[in-house]
Amino acid sequence: MPSPFVIAIDGPAGTGKSSATKRLAERLGFVHVDTGALYRAIAYLLLKEKDLLETGFDSFTAEQIPGVEKRACEIAATTKLRFERKPKLNPSNRIFANEVDITSHIRTPEISMGASRVSAIPEVRKALVSLQRTMGESGRSILEGRDIGTVIFPDANVKFFLTASISERAKRRLAELEASGADAPSYEEIKRQIAARDQGDMTRAVAPLRRADDAIELDTTNYTLDEVVDWMETQVRAKLKL
Ligand code: DC
Repeated sequence: MPSPFVIAIDGPAGTGKSSATKRLAERLGFVHVDTGALYRAIAYLLLKEKDLLETGFDSFTAEQIPGVEKRACEIAATTKLRFERKPKLNPSNRIFANEVDITSHIRTPEISMGASRVSAIPEVRKALVSLQRTMGESGRSILEGRDIGTVIFPDANVKFFLTASISERAKRRLAELEASGADAPSYEEIKRQIAARDQGDMTRAVAPLRRADDAIELDTTNYTLDEVVDWMETQVRAKLKL
């Protein structure tokens, strides 16, 4: 097995992080670990249990749903989460919670916001740390998330931090939702949701979203996906001496 090599990709929602990571992993033959999907899985299980999949947590506070934080911690500590790669079915990973494939349920706006909320709970983050490290340590891998370069793999071989203007991010998210055939909220609503998520992810007390000091930053606003992936590939190959 080649020696372990970890690439950390962090940044806010809608910067093209997931699509770029997916393509880069394919080009380099690395394992792709979408850590946001783990927080989404916890949010999905919690919202489903509370019968809130339609409305999400947006208008709720923990006081209005008694014990919600404690339950999120229990779910994070006891649920077996794993990815499975089925390229023929779908080029991206499938995610299983206690052996049930929940991939098609975790991309709604309610789950996005719910994931951001549960990710601010310190015990939930703690429960997912070793799982992420195990997934990344097994060989050559790319992990994408919010705290990969700062907390999960502070010694990653290459770290990227992707950004983009909020209007461009909202535009991309709207296009993505429309392409998937989902009922898309308005552009203004998407912008509001992204801003709310940024605010939560950047201001939480534990492992907030921030650029690691040694991460290479790229503002993707004016670049195509291919340009971003080409640029990242060049940096990685230089490090790997490929
Ligand atoms: O990357 P994403 O949009 O699928 O992530 C969903 C939420 O999960 C995000 O708003 C914050 C949280 N998250 C996190 O806190 N840490 C990570 N490493 C990945 C995601």
